[in-house]
Amino acid sequence: MNRRKFIQNSLMVGGALAASKGLSATESSALPQVAGAIPPEQIAAARFPKDFLWGMATSAYQVEGAWNTDGKGESIWDRAAHTPGKIRDSSNGDVACDQYHRYKEDIAIMKRLNVKSYRFSTSWPRVLPEGTGKVNQKGLDYYSRLADALLEAGIRPFCTIYHWDLPQALEDRGGWPNRDLASYYADFAAILAKNLGDRITVWAPFNMPTDFTRSGYGTGGSPPFKTNIDQFLKAAHTVNLAQGMAFRAIKAASSKATVGSAYGMEPVYPKTNSDADRAAAVRWNAAHNLYCIEPILHGTYPKAFIGEIPYEAMGFKAGDEKIMKVPLDWVGVHYYCRLLASDSSNSAPPDVSSHDPYAQIRIELAGDGPKTDGGLEVWPHGFYDLMMQLTRDYDHPIIEITETGGSFMEQPGANGRVADTRRIEFYRQHLAELARAMADGARVRAYHAWSLLDNFEWGSGYTQRYGLTYVDFATQKRTIKDSGHWYGRVAAAGRLDA
Ligand code: FCB
Repeated sequence: MNRRKFIQNSLMVGGALAASKGLSATESSALPQVAGAIPPEQIAAARFPKDFLWGMATSAYQVEGAWNTDGKGESIWDRAAHTPGKIRDSSNGDVACDQYHRYKEDIAIMKRLNVKSYRFSTSWPRVLPEGTGKVNQKGLDYYSRLADALLEAGIRPFCTIYHWDLPQALEDRGGWPNRDLASYYADFAAILAKNLGDRITVWAPFNMPTDFTRSGYGTGGSPPFKTNIDQFLKAAHTVNLAQGMAFRAIKAASSKATVGSAYGMEPVYPKTNSDADRAAAVRWNAAHNLYCIEPILHGTYPKAFIGEIPYEAMGFKAGDEKIMKVPLDWVGVHYYCRLLASDSSNSAPPDVSSHDPYAQIRIELAGDGPKTDGGLEVWPHGFYDLMMQLTRDYDHPIIEITETGGSFMEQPGANGRVADTRRIEFYRQHLAELARAMADGARVRAYHAWSLLDNFEWGSGYTQRYGLTYVDFATQKRTIKDSGHWYGRVAAAGRLDA
């Protein structure tokens, strides 16, 4: 599954009725949406504050390798990648970018490119091979060394605690639909905060909670490949409980901790101007973008369902609203593309795996702008719209951009250089829209490009390249792409015409 497929898999199921928030066609960006291009004058005028945190992101399974080294346990992604037919190029993350052994080299690249924040994730089965119980000290030591080396290089360690690699042992006990996982997870978060919290102060409990629960348990697009919408409801509820419990556990273990999360959000627009499609866009915003943030900030689920909220199917218990609700210190957001929503209450669901009895929405990727090599539309205006939506709906929260990026397949030329001009253009335009949102009041303090390195792109294996650094996977040689050098100049200058 590539990112395009992932979005389709996790989103094709529909949302629900009546929610209060979302973009309407008339509210969206005022700029003319002509193939998505941003005017050169806007790019030249964009400025970022001196203390803006220019960052890069990766995740454990995608870069670390060392899948069974030093006592690490098996994760659901190890299991999936070792199962024939699950990964497009039959590859796996056994070695990936070998960052477990090469982190110093990777940190040196970031230092050279003036990077001030590195968003990485911890592998749960590396620290707790069985998910609970005995700590694997060697695994914990790795993250300790990583944090030390980052600080020494003047780079802020930003830790995503969970980026999809659940210990297989916990999947064998029912996975995220099993409510017990909320407390196992909070224990894991507490272990990290106790041992690393003197050096790591920025924690994101989950990467894209709505996506991995829906795709893993509802639509079958990612491990453990289950297709039962009620299992998705249970999984997402466990994760929402876990977010609240982890927040408290981290704060109790480390007085310096600030906690947010990393939500995958796509601004959603009605496909036509009909009332039904406009309502569908609002419903999908609730069912997808807000589903794992409203319970945290407000203690309530958004009205993302036809009829009543299905508390019973979720496994919701009295008092859960108090467990979920915590005052996040900041909100982390990924932006990759926009979506179009249309009402499908009168048409058959697209296929069985994406049938959601609670929902009647059809979601699709828009196609007006140019495409990345991963098949996603390049649409920088959506980034501005999303920033302003969050700024308005959550009253100016502090925002960390946890990911944006594109897959572009450029290879090294005869001179060894990787001239990935399309990626430079991609970032230039997205960052110009981010600067516009900041000028209009969005409180964005950090930006993490996805990704520091070309890496294992989940179900697409190594067939997609998102890196600002090229990786030759046969030799592990790293080559900073032209986009990486450009990003380094932008980070130093705080402007896009660097
Ligand atoms: C995001 C994921 C990240 C990577 C990028 C391309 O959704 O968080 O791990 O796969 O997409």
